[in-house]
Amino acid sequence: MAERVGILVVSYGSRACAVIDALSRSGGDYDLHFYVADRQSNPFNLKHADKHVVIPDLDVHRIRDFVDANKDSIDFGICCPEKPIIEGIRDVIERDTGVPMICPARRYAIEASKVSQRLMLAECCPEANPRFKVFRRDEYTTADELKESIWAFLDELDSGVAVKPDRPAAGKGVGVWGDHFTTREQLYEHFMSIFGSSDVILEEKLEGEESSFQAFCDGRRIVPLPDTRDYKRAFDHDMGPNTGGMGSYKDVRDWLPFMSERDREEEEKIAGRIFNALKGGAAIKEELRGIPLYIAFMHTREGAKILEINSRPGDPEIQNVLPVLKGDFVDICFRMIEGTLKDVEFERKATVVTYAVPMDYGGYRERYTGDRRVDLSGVYHMMTDYGNALRVYPGSMELRANGNTYALGSRTVCTVGIGESIEEAREISLDGIRKIDGALWNRWDIGASHHIARSIARLKELRALV
Ligand code: AMP
Ligand code: GLY
Repeated sequence: MAERVGILVVSYGSRACAVIDALSRSGGDYDLHFYVADRQSNPFNLKHADKHVVIPDLDVHRIRDFVDANKDSIDFGICCPEKPIIEGIRDVIERDTGVPMICPARRYAIEASKVSQRLMLAECCPEANPRFKVFRRDEYTTADELKESIWAFLDELDSGVAVKPDRPAAGKGVGVWGDHFTTREQLYEHFMSIFGSSDVILEEKLEGEESSFQAFCDGRRIVPLPDTRDYKRAFDHDMGPNTGGMGSYKDVRDWLPFMSERDREEEEKIAGRIFNALKGGAAIKEELRGIPLYIAFMHTREGAKILEINSRPGDPEIQNVLPVLKGDFVDICFRMIEGTLKDVEFERKATVVTYAVPMDYGGYRERYTGDRRVDLSGVYHMMTDYGNALRVYPGSMELRANGNTYALGSRTVCTVGIGESIEEAREISLDGIRKIDGALWNRWDIGASHHIARSIARLKELRALV
């Protein structure tokens, strides 16, 4: 008889649907039951959950209460979003209920401070750090003094900097010279809009091509997942403001078309050094369980540099990876908890994730006051034609009492195409997007061959300059 396994999933958006979907594909040795703590009534989660609770702010103590009430039926939990990890969900749930959690402990929520992250990297892999300067709010008494200090750093770097809040802002508080501002006064304005509520870090603007690196971890070792490329900017051709990520692609291999195998090895080496630094000489550091290292790399003329590190799966990047996981994800989860994680295999397939988002997301329209109803029945119908090659994961949308689903404010729903090539995967993903009925928009160039060709040419050109 199949073994009963109860799993808590803490959900913010489509990423959790990809997790539930991957667990559900488990080999049949398990009789799975999901307990979902959700930001809203996500229709996918509602369909799969035995028990579902809406906790709009994902407050750690309310999630703990939900687990406590069901603790005899839950074998382990997975936390996808960063906010509860930063607030110590792992520590609180394990201490109060005894249910093991797959995510790092509060102490290892590395994204809690970009400043601490840079200081840590300066110790363990300085060559992967851009030049940077920290501006602490308690260190400046006058505006002149602050401005002088900013200007001095801008002189050093010929103004080529990125301005970042110390505290997480879902990639949206970041401003980059040449992209978001072209004069020092504009940069100063952006700086001051953050400095009111957070310390600020200025860092050298990196030129190159981005990749997202993720790894599973059981505390003893990290097991790298294939690289993906996220599309942060709102509009086609990488125009417009930064968003949470409009889509992403994964190639057939573990690295991206503009990278070489050596670039991938360099990423793995850097990740290994950071992991060892975090472990601090211990053979096992259980607090690092989950995906403690999601590293956003910039591949530059001088090799791989780090843009930022998170301690949770990327959204949309994990949606590229989990659908092509070969091993049994439930077993992998048990191994992460036991400290017996082994290498993980993936199908040699390309995947493309495209997000459909509301009209007023990313400044596409200034205002949208029309109907927000979204009907996924067409795309679900299409899934039966495509079999496993198309996945649909609702994100920021909710099922209401009238039985219809509606878009909320953030990324609404993503489609994942799986194919023999990136181009094929992209076609499938976009076919799915076209079948979604609702006032939504999307980027059309996620994984497009012209976009990839540009990445290849740009990196080649940069490296020819060495
Ligand atoms: P972050 O939240 O730090 O990942 O930043 C969001 C986005 O801003 C990144 O994906 C990059 O596109 C861009 N960015 C961040 N830091 C830098 C940097 N030092 N140089 C150039 N672009 C950057
Ligand atoms: N897609 C960027 C992130 O998950 O941080």
